[in-house]
Amino acid sequence: TPMRIGSLWAPGPESSNSATDDLIYTPSNNSYASLLIAQNLRPGSTSPYNKPLIIFTPFYDYQIQSAIYCSKKLRIQIRVRSGGHDYEGLSHTSRDNPFVVVDMRNLRQISIDAEQKTAWVEVGATLGQLYHTLAQKSGTLAFTAGVCPTVGIGGHLSGGGYGMMSRRHSIAADHITDARIMNVDGQILDRRSMGEDLFWAIRGGGGTSFGIVIAFKVNLITVPETVTVFNVTKTYEQNATQLVHRWQYIADKVDENLLMRVFLRSVRSLTTGKRTVIASFTTLYLGGVEDLMPIMKVKFPELGLVEKDCTKMSWIQSVLFFAYIPNQPLNVLLNRTTPFTVYFKGKSDYVTEPIPVDGLIGIWRFLHEEDENMAEIQFSPYGGAINSFSESETPFPHRTGNIFMIDYGLSWDSPGNEEAEKHLNWMRRIYGYMAAYVSKSPRGAYFNYRDLDLGVNNYSSGNIIGSYDEAKVWGMKYFKNNFERLVRVKTKVDPSNFFRNEQSIPPFPLQP
Ligand code: FDA
Repeated sequence: TPMRIGSLWAPGPESSNSATDDLIYTPSNNSYASLLIAQNLRPGSTSPYNKPLIIFTPFYDYQIQSAIYCSKKLRIQIRVRSGGHDYEGLSHTSRDNPFVVVDMRNLRQISIDAEQKTAWVEVGATLGQLYHTLAQKSGTLAFTAGVCPTVGIGGHLSGGGYGMMSRRHSIAADHITDARIMNVDGQILDRRSMGEDLFWAIRGGGGTSFGIVIAFKVNLITVPETVTVFNVTKTYEQNATQLVHRWQYIADKVDENLLMRVFLRSVRSLTTGKRTVIASFTTLYLGGVEDLMPIMKVKFPELGLVEKDCTKMSWIQSVLFFAYIPNQPLNVLLNRTTPFTVYFKGKSDYVTEPIPVDGLIGIWRFLHEEDENMAEIQFSPYGGAINSFSESETPFPHRTGNIFMIDYGLSWDSPGNEEAEKHLNWMRRIYGYMAAYVSKSPRGAYFNYRDLDLGVNNYSSGNIIGSYDEAKVWGMKYFKNNFERLVRVKTKVDPSNFFRNEQSIPPFPLQP
């Protein structure tokens, strides 16, 4: 079977969970390069600043203070890295500024209070480590967050955190009940001392802008002892187009224990040797197959699901299933890196009206244009618990009215700017084509699928404050009307814009 884009990011078989021995790594240090390994290489990057001057790996939270102090003194930017999965690599590369990386990998303790169903999770932990720790504690305690085990808590919870249980339990950021954050003055604040405005901002307003988060306290959830999964794949010839079309009328409205994601790719058919589009309906049901079958029969009979397509398993086994590492020992969830590094570009969209059949056929045409298998489009259903929050309750605004989110993903493995340009051009063209079918004014985008094509802060000619008007262009897409409040919080907590990157929230300009 050809390799799927997602499987490129499954954790590697080798344990690579290593903490560091030292605090500071410079390019002359032997471990510098291996510490810097990114999950996704940035295409076409020619910036002389795309590598940090120093990688700083604190063991204790007070050590972060020294990094803030030194970088202020030397006027060098700080980039914070938790799991390193930023779609544009902003935790470890910079377009135009010298910088140091504060790599939080050693700060990854997790303490679970099973009785209270809460956990304190340090940001350097990965999702896999959190899921693994929960499974060691209990068969039914879980957390709702993303699918890829190597994603870091720090970036993921700061920007949202969508996963296979999001229709039932919403996104990860909605479960944050407290946090420890280091502010621009090196003080460590918790929910009480930071105040509700800042606490609001860090639950979806994105990493970087407001300080260095050290740990989040989250509410855990309870899952059934067994859940049901299936992954049914249909080709174009097996009616994939009509099935995907029909899915759009069901996906966000069906029982919220059911989350059916659709993965679309173009592959070469084993029987005809020709390229065909396939749609994989990758599904988690938080319950037994006996309850799932009647729902599918009534709501989506067209898919023709039968009992033998379904597998019963524990929730933690379903985590392995969706991460493309089924039946492996649970310890694989502790690995921080993946065996492959590929070039990657992603984008996102929100769909509020079903895409008509001819619109879908246009997508298939684009998929055929790219190299077999390397382009994957995901349709991830919304609705359910995601809508139990209003648009302004947290900075993550994509609530009622969205049927599903689109994640456009494209990977390739050959270096070179020409190769990169070819793929990036494909991505821009399909994004242009999709404008007619997705949310408008603003065209929504998911912050955790960061996309610098939406706009960047311009810090040229010594202006390090950035511009509200410039940032509003991308800010409205990620945060809608919450952008304005995020700028107000930023102005209060970091008026000199010490914590910044190409897409961080700017403060309002300082009054003379
Ligand atoms: P990374 O360390 O790169 O940080 C991301 C951003 O947050 C950077 O700007 C960084 O500076 C900042 N930051 C990190 N730690 C911080 C801290 N402690 N304090 C302040 N700022 C901090 N998303 C999703 O919702 N569901 C999913 O299933 C997936 N799956 C997935 C798979 C793969 C392979 C990738 C590459 C990405 C995803 N994502 C995802 C997207 C993911 O949620 C997003 O990239 C997160 O920001 C990654 O968090 P990391 O800590 O790993 O990134």
